[in-house]
Amino acid sequence: MTKPIYLDHAATTPVDPEVISAMLPYFAEEYGNPSSVHMWGQRAQHAVKSGREKIAAVLNCSADEIIFTACGSESDNLAIRGAALTARESGRGSHIVVSAMEHPAVLNTARSLRDQDGFELTELGVDEHGMTSTDDLSNALRSDTVLVSIMYANNEIGVIAPIAELAKAAHDQGAIFHTDAVQAGSQLPLDIEALGVDMLSLGAHKFYGPKGVGVLYARSGTALQPTQTGGNQEAGRRAGTHNVPLIVGMAAALEITEERRNRDGTRMEALRDRLIKRILELVPDSRLTGHRTERLPNNASFVFANIDGNELLMHLDLAGITASSGSACKTGSPEPSTVTRSLRLSQRWELGSLRLSLGRYTASDDIDYTISMLPDIIKRMRAENG
Ligand SMILES: Cc1ncc(COP(=O)(O)O)c(C=O)c1O
Repeated sequence: MTKPIYLDHAATTPVDPEVISAMLPYFAEEYGNPSSVHMWGQRAQHAVKSGREKIAAVLNCSADEIIFTACGSESDNLAIRGAALTARESGRGSHIVVSAMEHPAVLNTARSLRDQDGFELTELGVDEHGMTSTDDLSNALRSDTVLVSIMYANNEIGVIAPIAELAKAAHDQGAIFHTDAVQAGSQLPLDIEALGVDMLSLGAHKFYGPKGVGVLYARSGTALQPTQTGGNQEAGRRAGTHNVPLIVGMAAALEITEERRNRDGTRMEALRDRLIKRILELVPDSRLTGHRTERLPNNASFVFANIDGNELLMHLDLAGITASSGSACKTGSPEPSTVTRSLRLSQRWELGSLRLSLGRYTASDDIDYTISMLPDIIKRMRAENG
């Protein structure tokens, strides 16, 4: 092995060197507060405005529909709490629909609205590929449904949802539609008009931007109660002094991502397909999780029978391959994640999940090396465990 191989881009990505250069002046030279009226403040405000416009251009929306937050989780919280509480106050109802496979940032927020605030919640099941069906959504919608939140692409198994179709079904019943596009941000088109959503969440660290900054797109006219109160930043929708360097970095990162999107996607898809094909050929009792074609270009996720995913991660780490598993070790015993559980796999499969997520800089050699190591590691683990 020559260098460690990072196949965990779904967890986070390295910051693009161009993004670092764009951010640097805003730490120590242009450090003004954008809310200040003086020259320093005005220059910082200009940087924030320019970042907002760049992001709006990628999303094909207007600049005042962009709300800066501190991460994807905060964007999800603001979207779900903010819209649900406002809609209920205006007497429109108190029913929310989410998919059972949402990231905890959505799922736990919706559950908290149910448990603490008296909302009714429907968690939509998914099929064996992790797909949410539009018919199931239509059947779950009611006249008092105020909000639907379904993720654009899943973080563990990479499955891509038919967002435009789902959003239309929600709109036909008068509900607001939010999508968590945190995983999709680096790889899928983000044109709001084509997607037809009312709200969309992004987090910069998934698209080669800095950690600690995110975006919520909220369609003009979508009333949102702020989850963070204080000053009047972001038109009263999110209080707190703007994080100027991170906003500048996020805008630069999204522009670069948009410019590279198609060619990066095509390249990663070819590597991903080779990886999937060879692993399924070489590892007995292995399955792909998620949909074969409707999946993120960078996501290869598997389950292996009679394997502990966490143990597998340790063996891979020792071999220089960084990956991730859906099963987490809770109170000493491994448990499948919500996502793996929602695929309804039998017991001998459900703990053996592995996610390999490729990135912009993943080389063909990295994939070859992984293909050369993973089957033997699994063979050895199975032999050791009898
Ligand atoms: C689908 C999805 N939503 C939300 C989040 C949370 O984003 P952040 O880490 O920016 O809070 C993540 C991060 O893993 C994610 O994958």
